[in-house]
Amino acid sequence: MEIIEKIEILRNKLEVLKKSGKKIGFVPTMGALHDGHISLINCAEKQNDIIVVSIFVNPTQFNNINDLTTYPRNNDKDIEILKKTKCKFLFLPSVEEIYPDDKSKEIKYNFGYLTTVMEGKYRPSHFDGVALVVSKLFNIVKPNNAYFGQKDFQQFIVIQHLANYFLSELNINVIRCPIIREADGLAMSSRNIRLNNIQRESAVLISKTLFEAKEKFIKLSVNDLKAWINDKINQDENLVVEYIEIVTDPDLIEITDWNTKDKIVACIAVNVGDIRLIDNVYFN
Ligand code: PAF
Repeated sequence: MEIIEKIEILRNKLEVLKKSGKKIGFVPTMGALHDGHISLINCAEKQNDIIVVSIFVNPTQFNNINDLTTYPRNNDKDIEILKKTKCKFLFLPSVEEIYPDDKSKEIKYNFGYLTTVMEGKYRPSHFDGVALVVSKLFNIVKPNNAYFGQKDFQQFIVIQHLANYFLSELNINVIRCPIIREADGLAMSSRNIRLNNIQRESAVLISKTLFEAKEKFIKLSVNDLKAWINDKINQDENLVVEYIEIVTDPDLIEITDWNTKDKIVACIAVNVGDIRLIDNVYFN
């Protein structure tokens, strides 16, 4: 595996490989790698000749400075993890490499409704930052395929929209990979390592409640089911639900009754102390 910090160098190497007909698979990350990331790399391995992983804790997508400063970072450990995978290039740029000046932060895409609900509502400007950095990374790597996890369901929908409508000339397939869970059901997340033992025990209730709700789906009204999920999780003194929404995939329409032919996803954000966790479960 080669570690590359400069855009120019990565671009030149990938150009040569693409000219020789190699398929490029790209896994963008913010580091603190776990099995969820490895599953994206494994998925990429099956469909591409060359795998590029990026690690970049993108400051423009954090609307809370405390969240940015406490975001887990461990490049040395991540490098050791990646060396055991089929990753060929690790792109590890500095903030200055990606954002050389304030002008480079000005591009703003309009995703309309997709970014006004759920994460967009509670983390204003978050998706502006995600779309900004992903568009830069896509333009640098120009992969054939790019891989994102279902845990960040709304992010996946937004990035798919970005690739299909705003960066369509790059012709990138945005591929969604399933959520990877711990043995007790907690969705894997880089933020989980910040949970203390007590918080970690409480956090299990998030997925457990969503899976129980899946069993109740249709028997209760949408509003009653959302209230049930909310109350059940909030009963744990370590957990505070930020939102619970039941939406369609891929349009993210908040449903008010169960009469839809679309796939239905229950999406949740929960604060565990100052650690914000998200999860989602399909109901049908
Ligand atoms: O999901 C993430 O890790 C980040 O939001 C991403 C897509 C790498 C952009 O910074």
